[in-house]
Amino acid sequence: MTNFYDQLTPFYHLVYQDWSASVHRQGEQLSALIKTEWSSSRKILDVSCGIGTQAIGLAMQGYSVSASDLSEKEIERAKQEAFNRNAEVSFAVCDMRNAHAHHGPGFDVVISGDNSLPHLLTDEDILLALKQMTACLSAGGGCLITVRDYEREERGRNLVKLYGVRVENGHRYLLFQVWDFEGEHYDLTFFFVEENLSTREVKTHAMRSKYYAISTHRLCELMQQAGLQNVRRLDGVFFQPVLVGTRAA
Ligand SMILES: C[S@@+](CC[C@H](N)C(=O)[O-])C[C@H]1O[C@@H](n2cnc3c(N)ncnc32)[C@H](O)[C@@H]1O
Repeated sequence: MTNFYDQLTPFYHLVYQDWSASVHRQGEQLSALIKTEWSSSRKILDVSCGIGTQAIGLAMQGYSVSASDLSEKEIERAKQEAFNRNAEVSFAVCDMRNAHAHHGPGFDVVISGDNSLPHLLTDEDILLALKQMTACLSAGGGCLITVRDYEREERGRNLVKLYGVRVENGHRYLLFQVWDFEGEHYDLTFFFVEENLSTREVKTHAMRSKYYAISTHRLCELMQQAGLQNVRRLDGVFFQPVLVGTRAA
């Protein structure tokens, strides 16, 4: 898994049509949500920040942000991306199943964005991560998770998910994933077909990982088990479902 994201790091922004615009947009959307759910929050922890899509966006909205991820390479790039945007984020390498041991308590909001939790392949591991996230929260603080809606995804083998075409620095990239389900889990290969538009040379980069296609319903149950209250799924406020829960005051 770490290997998947270490390899993906230089290409990660290509997953988005315009990554910088998405950093701004996601920062605005998450900030609006945080203000509605847990007004006067200041201190945010992102436990699966990747190259910083949500962490940098929230720092640009004026929050005090700490952020970590399992992938060293992504954290290296996240630091550079934050520096380029004059955004202050305290970055670290850390497994989210160890978040409280690493970051300690006292956060107003703890987030895990864009389908990171389903990289943990069992309910036990997801519950462990959720308990650690909850322990990082001050009383009355909020947990915010965004995930793919697996109830809406077809199950099967050889499933192709097209991400589109990007053109950057004289290179054209075709992005797609291939999914193979086995029970509730699926193996994924992410293909980046890179064409040099001057020489017409073509290279294919392929990275492999595995996901647990856990439903948002089950995730909400696990959030409750982790000690969160008022757990709900919110739709239409972000590009994927958002799950929120609050630590008892
Ligand atoms: C789809 S990416 C999302 C990254 C970031 N939130 C974003 O939207 O750009 C999933 C992230 O989860 C991280 N991840 C997976 N398992 C993890 C774990 N056990 N602890 C911390 N991070 C993990 C990966 O390294 C990757 O950066």
